[in-house]
Amino acid sequence: MSQTTSQSNLKTIHDLKLTGKSLFLRLDFNVPLSPPDASGERAIEDDSRIQEALPTLRYAIEKGARLVLASHLGRPGGKKRPELSLEPVAHRLAALLDQEVTLADDCTGDGIELMVQGLKNGQILLLENLRFHPEEEANDPDFSKRLARLGQVYITDAFGTAHRKHASTYGVPSLILERGMGFLIEKELRFFDTLLHQPKRPFYAVLGGSKVSDKIKAIESLVRRVDGILVGGSMAHAFWAAQGDSLPAGTKLPKQEDIDAARSIMRDAKRREIKVLTPLDTNNGFDIGPKTVQKFIDVLSEAQTIFWNGPLGWFEKPEYCSGTFEIAKALAEMKAIKIAGGGETVSAIKKAGTGVAERFDHLSTGGGAVLEYLEGNGLPGIDILRLNQRQLIQIQSAFEESFEE
Ligand code: 3PG
Repeated sequence: MSQTTSQSNLKTIHDLKLTGKSLFLRLDFNVPLSPPDASGERAIEDDSRIQEALPTLRYAIEKGARLVLASHLGRPGGKKRPELSLEPVAHRLAALLDQEVTLADDCTGDGIELMVQGLKNGQILLLENLRFHPEEEANDPDFSKRLARLGQVYITDAFGTAHRKHASTYGVPSLILERGMGFLIEKELRFFDTLLHQPKRPFYAVLGGSKVSDKIKAIESLVRRVDGILVGGSMAHAFWAAQGDSLPAGTKLPKQEDIDAARSIMRDAKRREIKVLTPLDTNNGFDIGPKTVQKFIDVLSEAQTIFWNGPLGWFEKPEYCSGTFEIAKALAEMKAIKIAGGGETVSAIKKAGTGVAERFDHLSTGGGAVLEYLEGNGLPGIDILRLNQRQLIQIQSAFEESFEE
């Protein structure tokens, strides 16, 4: 499918008639859970993804849609694994919306179709974890058809899963013509499209975490758009190794693929005269040191736009959290537009101190989806919404043939 950045065919939930209609709503309720307690219960450790879905849910309830919610949770590998049931999500959602949320024991089949038919306007049925079926990740045409029978209208607000070409994110919206995006995806696209196409300058990217090779395409795309890159976390080790610098004592040599990726990024940045700043000092190699914190703050103070992905140290350990937390706190005070993406980064920003997270302009709900979107080639779960009926028919026949071969 050809990718496009045009928003023209992309409908939002506002453009669709919902009253009395069954609404298949694909959300990303893949939330972190605590290990099971003595009675096997797991608690939700961060409910941001549920909170961020509330505006769309409240709107659909107010309009009188009959809501059928679908999500995956974790990676059960196509098997029914009770510890990955969406039950904790159903409870949290019911509490947040202050209304009953019925959890189905599966996501397709005659029984589920009857439950959907029985829904009254404004009522909610949450389907059980889609990934209990291998057909979900395989984008299986029959499974997609069975899911599509549950909705007259399709809305996705699952930005975090929009990079996956799965049955619920791709197969189903190719079968339901009345389709569009919810408020969360609309918000995510607003921020990331500005970042990609019209950032206020100077624009700096702060990059951390570990593997450069996993993020290389996104970083290459950023190098074409930013005025400078500031590197921390263990990713910095690959940049040092690529420059021939020695690594902090006691730290491991990064993998060759990461060193090669860092070398290629530095070559590209040099050609484009883009600054790449690596740490000046570290705390035992597991965090950026105080000189680096100051240098990063000085550089970032000039910025009009800042994008941050990847913690700058091992922030889960109290002895190595200060670099990441100090940068988060300093960014919170800056006037620039501040956008962060990636589960660990957002979690670090939320832990950095009271009021820090609130002062960021946007904390994305996406991890892999953010990096793929920053590559600049769109996301399958959003691009499918832009196709017209003729293009959809072509996709469906190609898609069924690929399964018949
Ligand atoms: C995420 O957490 O990034 C999304 O929910 C997608 O999950 P996945 O990487 O298991 O597809």
